[in-house]
Formats: sequence, structure tokens, C-alpha cells
Amino acid sequence: MKTTYVALTALALFLTAGAVAISSEEKKPEPAGAQKKPDEASIWMKKKLEFSQNILAGLTRADFEAVEMNAKAMNVLGFLEKWVRANRPDYQRELKYFETANKALIRQAEQKNLEGATLAHMLVTASCVRCHQVIRDVK
Ligand code: HEC
Repeated sequence: MKTTYVALTALALFLTAGAVAISSEEKKPEPAGAQKKPDEASIWMKKKLEFSQNILAGLTRADFEAVEMNAKAMNVLGFLEKWVRANRPDYQRELKYFETANKALIRQAEQKNLEGATLAHMLVTASCVRCHQVIRDVK
């Protein structure tokens, strides 16, 4: 279990580095208000936002490799997140939606199906919004 966790963390870092390298050409300054104190989850989430933007860019270019790579990086983040709020059933449910949509995205990118990947990306995006809605409602 522990070795799996370590391996996945290493993989996440590796994928993160790769995805950052791809997106570095379109780095923009941080928007105002983004300087909230970073906890572990929000650092991952910033990555998620970056990955999902890379995915959108990949879709517009029909660059399936970029879509697949960034979706796989998000998949690892989702996997790691399971331990962050493991005791929250509503969070775990939303995370499941997210993972299901993201896996569909990886599958569609592998099959080089642009329409399917675009739809899956929209489902992933919907799951981002929904989970945040659930989190806000609880607060
Ligand atoms: C399963 C739940 C869940 C999903 C799915 C999810 N998030 Fe989050 N997100 C969170 C939580 C929890 C936080 C931290 C909120 C807080 O405590 O204020 C967060 C915070 C964020 C933040 C703010 C980070 C910051 O530093 O202020 C961004 C940006 C973000 N998420 C982007 C995304 C994107 C993009 C997706 C989809 C690709 C996504 N999230 C999917 C749960 C989720």
C-alpha cells in the first residue's frame, strides 16, 4: 500500500512536470485573489485547473497526446485526494463522478475520438463545478 502511494506520488510529480513544460508558453500572471493560504488540497486543485486548461487547449488542436497526458495527471490527483477527505461521503461521491468522467476522457483520447473527448471534458468540468457546489453548501 505504502509503496503504491509513493509510486503514485512520484508519478504525479513526473506528470505534473511534463504538463507544466507543455503549458509554460501560455503562462499568465496569477489573477487577483488567488493568493489564499495554500493548503495541500488547493495546491492540487491549482494543478487541476491547469491540467483542465491544457486539456481544452489540446482538444482545440486535436492534440490527443496532450489531452491524454493531462487527463492521466488529473487521474492521479483524484486518486491521491481520496485520503484528504476520506470521511466525507458527499465529497467521495463527487470525487467518484469526477473520476468516472476523467477516465472516459482518457479512453476517448486514446481512441482519438474528438467529439467523445470533448463531451467527456464537459462532464469533467461539470463535476468540478458540482463538487465545489457541494463543498460550499456544507460550509
Ligand atoms: C471531489 C471534489 C472536487 C472536485 C471534483 C474538484 N475540486 Fe477543486 N476543490 C475541491 C476542494 C475541497 C477545494 C478546496 C476548497 C476550500 O477548502 O476552500 C477545491 C478548490 C479548488 C480551487 C481553488 C484553489 C485555491 O487555491 O483557492 C480550484 C481552482 C479548483 N478547486 C479547481 C478545480 C478544477 C478545475 C476541477 C476539475 C477539473 C476541480 N477543482 C474538481 C474539491 C474538488
